[in-house]
Amino acid sequence: MSRYVVTGTDTGIGKTLVAAGLAGHLRARYWKPVQAGLDEESDSEVVRRLTEGRAEVLPEAWRLQTPCSPHEAARIDGVRIDPAALVLPAGDRPLIVEGAGGVLVPVNDETLYADLFALWGLPVILVARTELGTINHSLLSLEALRSRNVAVGGIVFSGNENSASEAAIVKFGQVRHLGRLPRLDPLNPATLAEAVAGNIRVDLL
Ligand SMILES: Nc1ncnc2c1ncn2[C@@H]1O[C@H](COP(=O)(O)OP(=O)(O)OP(=O)(O)O)[C@@H](O)[C@H]1O
Ligand SMILES: [Mg+2]
Repeated sequence: MSRYVVTGTDTGIGKTLVAAGLAGHLRARYWKPVQAGLDEESDSEVVRRLTEGRAEVLPEAWRLQTPCSPHEAARIDGVRIDPAALVLPAGDRPLIVEGAGGVLVPVNDETLYADLFALWGLPVILVARTELGTINHSLLSLEALRSRNVAVGGIVFSGNENSASEAAIVKFGQVRHLGRLPRLDPLNPATLAEAVAGNIRVDLL
């Protein structure tokens, strides 16, 4: 059964695109448990737009107004995110869950996303940029996940090819390279589906 968390080394690096691509390909359910920032198109809306009905987009558990770390966005809205209430959707259909920001982003004043991933017991797919700085961010993220006994299903790169960085991360991080999503221009449901089918090792998931 394919049930994965999609997380990343940073915010704004392509997690939602990778999650949409995987969810569409697997005809999976997509769940963004906490959406922080409601003025722009939400991640769930992006996934709905890019999968055109192939993925089932589940409702978020928390929708917070401010585009910042969920713990702070929740404080501003006068609520507290309760990790115990973030129960994985039941059922054995494929599931893609998207975090927010990176692995050590706070959900509330006690809990980080990586702690949630450990609680859920799902393997994680790490999305990483290919630009300068990615080796450090990727290896730090992998250490943080593994120190909490979170299984890492593999890494998906986002951006232009950088074979030296990708190879270093695979070697030092002992992580499976699941492929690279290139910059898509135009970005639409067809180009995303084609890029996932041609570049991402979905067969390994
Ligand atoms: N491979 C790509 N080709 C074209 N555009 C991309 C690609 N990857 C990311 N982008 C664009 O970069 C922006 C950020 O991507 P995305 O929303 O997937 O990031 P994210 O990691 O999910 O961010 P967040 O932490 O806010 O959830 C979006 O506008 C997206 O369309
Ligand atoms: Mg996102």
